[in-house]
Amino acid sequence: MRSILVKNGEIITMNEADDRFTGDIYIEGDTIKEIGSHLDHRQAEKIIDATNRVIIPGFIQTHLHLCQTLFRGRADDLELMDWLRKKIWPLEAAHDEESLYYSAMLGLGELIQSGTTTIVDMETVHHTEYAFQAIAASGIRALSGKAMMDKGQDVPGPLQEKTAVSLQQSVDLLEKWHGYDGGRIKYAFSPRFVISCTAELLKEVKSLSDRYHVHVHTHASENKGEIEIVQQETGRRNIAYLDDLGLANDRLILAHCIWLDEEEKRIIKEKNVKVSHCPGSNLKLASGIAEIPDMLRRDIAVSLGADGASCNNNLDMFQEMRLAALIQKPIHGPCTMDAKTVFTMATSGGARALGMEAEIGSIETGKKADLVILNLHDFHVYPSSDVDTVSRIVYSATRADVETSIINGSIVMENRKLKTVDKGHVLR
Ligand code: GUN
Ligand code: FE
Repeated sequence: MRSILVKNGEIITMNEADDRFTGDIYIEGDTIKEIGSHLDHRQAEKIIDATNRVIIPGFIQTHLHLCQTLFRGRADDLELMDWLRKKIWPLEAAHDEESLYYSAMLGLGELIQSGTTTIVDMETVHHTEYAFQAIAASGIRALSGKAMMDKGQDVPGPLQEKTAVSLQQSVDLLEKWHGYDGGRIKYAFSPRFVISCTAELLKEVKSLSDRYHVHVHTHASENKGEIEIVQQETGRRNIAYLDDLGLANDRLILAHCIWLDEEEKRIIKEKNVKVSHCPGSNLKLASGIAEIPDMLRRDIAVSLGADGASCNNNLDMFQEMRLAALIQKPIHGPCTMDAKTVFTMATSGGARALGMEAEIGSIETGKKADLVILNLHDFHVYPSSDVDTVSRIVYSATRADVETSIINGSIVMENRKLKTVDKGHVLR
């Protein structure tokens, strides 16, 4: 069995006790077997010296679109509905198998290089098989699914689906990919948003997600124009409507949730629905600033996502953490969304949001070995006991500080060199 010993790093465990200490991590197969100081595992196949390095749980991003990586810079300075109708849907419609694979590979390379080890990904309507192949090759942990779109105005032909076909293609992908590589890859049903889906489709998604016990991942209440269309078409607001159809439960992941009324907040809390906060995308698409401090006060599970490279121009969790903290400060004061809060959302909180806290989100014996080694020693920080490493990471670190990344016990990047996602090759 493959084995790795990571020696002498400053470990930010993100366990319940928030333990932080300098020590070693011994990994066997896909699992963390032992954590301690001066571990002697001479039999380890590979030893990584993490002296002067910081070891953190890999970042968990709960909303993005790998299929949109190639659209960066091609759909800027628009609001959501125009952005989708005039730019993104036509670009998605034009994807072929190869462009989708490359788009996914480029995105995965960026994600791994910026410390993300788990993603929740929504693809486009067609060619999703090729995104799964890229995910499989990259080594990343992922929940992914094809976008479902069986209604809507101004939708280009290749994205228009018949309800039964959308459901059947989703189930076919699920049966092929859910549980792949010991569960590293999972399927998530991905109805795009209420505007794109008939009630018939959404009800069937609900019953299939129960039958297979998988997540449902969608967008909700991102933009005022979007909400107006939903109200015109259904007479309800997004989350109340999804709840009417039975979808509100702890396996529902809602991206954005910027404009929620009291009833929607109550449903999210009572049904333990998960919110994926995408601050960079919310600013870039001029969608708004989500009321995250209020959600946290209500004990709603909030995690983070970059959304797509075309929404945000970035897939970098360092930027999302920083923005999540910074955008609330002028409104709520400096402490409401502090460094620890946003770092938790990006790690252990993300794992809880996915119901995967027994597997990932912290560095603990028995958990999957998903960890990232940062080299922060170039920072101009005077060594002192009141310098907080998490604060340094949230407010100052960049993707250039990510040196090595281990996912599921495999080294996917070492000394900044990606193992399986070769950008040069992809771009040729
Ligand atoms: N709502 C429906 N589709 C999308 C999408 O692709 N990106 C974002 N940000 N919002 C959406
Ligand atoms: Fe999105």
